[in-house]
Amino acid sequence: METLDHLFANNRRWAEEIKAEDPQFFEKLSAQQHPEYLWIGCSDSRVPSNQIIGLMPGEVFVHRNVANIVIHTDLNCQSVLQFAVDVVKVKHIMVVGHYGCGGVRASLEDTEHGLIDNWLRALKDLYWAEQARFEGLTDEEERVNLLCELNVRAQVANVCHTSIVQNAWARGQSLQVHGWIYSVADGLLRDLGATIRGPEQIPPSYRICYTLPNGLPGHHAHEHDDNCGH
Ligand code: CO
Repeated sequence: METLDHLFANNRRWAEEIKAEDPQFFEKLSAQQHPEYLWIGCSDSRVPSNQIIGLMPGEVFVHRNVANIVIHTDLNCQSVLQFAVDVVKVKHIMVVGHYGCGGVRASLEDTEHGLIDNWLRALKDLYWAEQARFEGLTDEEERVNLLCELNVRAQVANVCHTSIVQNAWARGQSLQVHGWIYSVADGLLRDLGATIRGPEQIPPSYRICYTLPNGLPGHHAHEHDDNCGH
């Protein structure tokens, strides 16, 4: 019978190494967590959040699913987001895609992969909506990688369109949402320059307008602007 003893041996060695550096590490950590970051990434085994950004246990709150997709009716992802923003009060959310993502690749194929196709259909929808950008792009890797980048941008927007994030901004909480992409080929992260820092950066149709104490519509944490529609 195959056993998994080697994994427990690894675990004991890992815990000993950390305790050798800081004997109170696990005691301190068991009291509470104060991570400043929420990482929303792909389940891919080659994209381990903490290791890539060199952070220890306790320093990054993590949600991973196939192809780092944020869907408004996904109770799992939305619950992580709500807890991270309202209770943990993270200051940064990073949506992290990766080039060559198997989920993104599968979404561009016309073969059946099983239940997962339903999950990946959000990517097919995105490809269809953005197909003009793919015109003339025949190299399969380039097509996959372009959709990987577009997906990150779309999921950054989805995070920002939630009432969770907008309510945080409205009460003056500091919260930035970033779009990053990782390359398995060189181990490096790239910032896609898609950072959103407040409701001014999201389309008016998605913005929640808050009622001020005087009963008039307005915004709590930012100046009124004409794009809001009132
Ligand atoms: Co992936």
